[in-house]
Amino acid sequence: MFLTLEGIDGCGKTTQAHLLVERLRETEKSCGGVVWTKEPGGWPGGEKIRDLVLRDGLEHPLSELFLFLADRCEHVLQVIAPALKEGKIVICERYTDSTLAYQSWGRGLPLEKIEELFRWCGFPSPDKTIWIDLPAPAAYHRMAGRGRMDRLEEEGTVFLEKVRSGFSFLAERDRGRIVRIDGEKDISGISAEILDTVLAFLHQ
Ligand code: TMP
Repeated sequence: MFLTLEGIDGCGKTTQAHLLVERLRETEKSCGGVVWTKEPGGWPGGEKIRDLVLRDGLEHPLSELFLFLADRCEHVLQVIAPALKEGKIVICERYTDSTLAYQSWGRGLPLEKIEELFRWCGFPSPDKTIWIDLPAPAAYHRMAGRGRMDRLEEEGTVFLEKVRSGFSFLAERDRGRIVRIDGEKDISGISAEILDTVLAFLHQ
């Protein structure tokens, strides 16, 4: 099973991904294992691309897009596809929906072109996607409390709200796959809802 977690910066994805991995490792002992990974940078050597794409310096939205795609090609080839082949549950923080929400809604690149590139790259589709939805001001407030921000985080609430509307569109369009979770609830409430959704899907 290939599961992705999505949402704007500061929505609580990383905390929730770790809680989910922990719970699944306890409850799903009979499966082939649970692999946690993330984008960008979730493959050996991937930190270099992560650094390049999140630090200052890029000005062209297409350079940003192609770096995320290059990162994903290696990530799929070296980490995701082998783990899925071995029957493991793969939990990935950010994947194709982030590219659509950030690079299309956020940067204005055409959705259909990006999706055409996904098909050309042969990226596997997630079986289930959890979208942790949080309004941009609340997410921004959380990030500001954490200290230094990266290039995309510094874009501010207007940008994040555009990205959020991208996730909202995708959740409506792909409603069989994407499940919206209210990110304004407390950590344990969100975690329980995510676990219920995932277990229901795993044991259907
Ligand atoms: P992270 O800090 O949550 O790992 O995310 C890194 C940043 O990269 C975040 O601002 C979202 C952005 N991003 C894109 O813009 N497009 C993508 O395809 C991916 C995977 C991430």
